[in-house]
Amino acid sequence: MSTRQAFAPTPAAAAYVGERFGLAGTALGAEPTARGLCGRIWELTAAGTRHALKELFWDDDQDEQEIRGRVRFETAARAAGVGCPQSLPTVDGDYLCRLPPELGNVYVRLYSWIDGRPLTPADHAAEHAADWLGDCLARLHRLALRDPGAGAPDSRFERVPTADQWQELLDALRAQRVEWADGLERLMPAVGELSELVVPLDRDALVMCHLDLTPANVMRERTGGFVLVDWDNAGPGSADHELAAALMAWHAPDGRARTDRVAATAAAYARAGGPGRVRDLSCFSGYLGTVLNNLYTQASVAIAADAHEEHRELARTKVRQVMANLPSRSALEQVGLSAENR
Ligand SMILES: Nc1ncnc2c1ncn2[C@@H]1O[C@H](COP(=O)(O)OP(=O)(O)OP(=O)(O)O)[C@@H](O)[C@H]1O
Ligand SMILES: [Mg+2]
Repeated sequence: MSTRQAFAPTPAAAAYVGERFGLAGTALGAEPTARGLCGRIWELTAAGTRHALKELFWDDDQDEQEIRGRVRFETAARAAGVGCPQSLPTVDGDYLCRLPPELGNVYVRLYSWIDGRPLTPADHAAEHAADWLGDCLARLHRLALRDPGAGAPDSRFERVPTADQWQELLDALRAQRVEWADGLERLMPAVGELSELVVPLDRDALVMCHLDLTPANVMRERTGGFVLVDWDNAGPGSADHELAAALMAWHAPDGRARTDRVAATAAAYARAGGPGRVRDLSCFSGYLGTVLNNLYTQASVAIAADAHEEHRELARTKVRQVMANLPSRSALEQVGLSAENR
């Protein structure tokens, strides 16, 4: 896992990005407007028009061909009525742009700017958000896009760390006297039980999915509409699994199910012709794979000697969040039942 070097929003960086993306008169905001685990968003203005410049933290999984597949999906989704930012290409037609060593040697991508704000907890618990979510997912899944260039599904949806790997991690955390190591160890029986639900994807049922449809990746426009951002994880997946994952992320984020909202999203999805179903607990495979792999990765980053302190600190926060909100099997059962009895 290699991390980025330092990126600074200097006039030289703004000019370089402007030249690569064919924009004149570029300037960068002094502070990033937002950051997540994968990147940081900077506001880039060019002759009065705003753009979102994403600085990508991790170099390893960046692949121009995969990105082009995502852009095809995003373009089809936009045509099907899903609000989303537009990915912008360089003058050479690439979406991925590497800054030179003197500007930080990082990958960046450029998107149209969304004039909106992140969702508040009240926004994402609202009834109209539950309806929007079902409708949006159905539009994505109805495309049934099979992208031959998309490659294999990401292994984090199908495979989780083994008991031995967790044990090694716990030993490393103990060696560094990490205070939440005991808490993590106490969760191991639950982690083991949930891990059993993580199963291989049916290769015949793969369609392009967003694969990160969480409230953090949805913005509210000034006009009130919802916009789905962060298509950087999009790839082949299962409509069933993506529906189940979205129901958990939106309506049971703390492991407790809001069954009325689950039913509302499932009903909106069915009304809009969504093909997915939460047939049984194995449909939560992708969600659980993401949660458990995220817990493992973030706990590892938290003690990684080669990670920046900024990343380590964020990783510690994420670990605590995931540990506090791990879903129980009965919460999954409740969500599954409410989705099917919509
Ligand atoms: N095109 C855009 N215009 C304006 N703001 C944006 C745009 N895209 C993203 N944002 C804001 O920046 C935040 C981070 O962007 P994004 O989700 O793409 O980054 P990330 O690091 O990949 O996050 P994650 O941890 O979810 O993977 C978003 O939650 C959103 O609030
Ligand atoms: Mg995001």
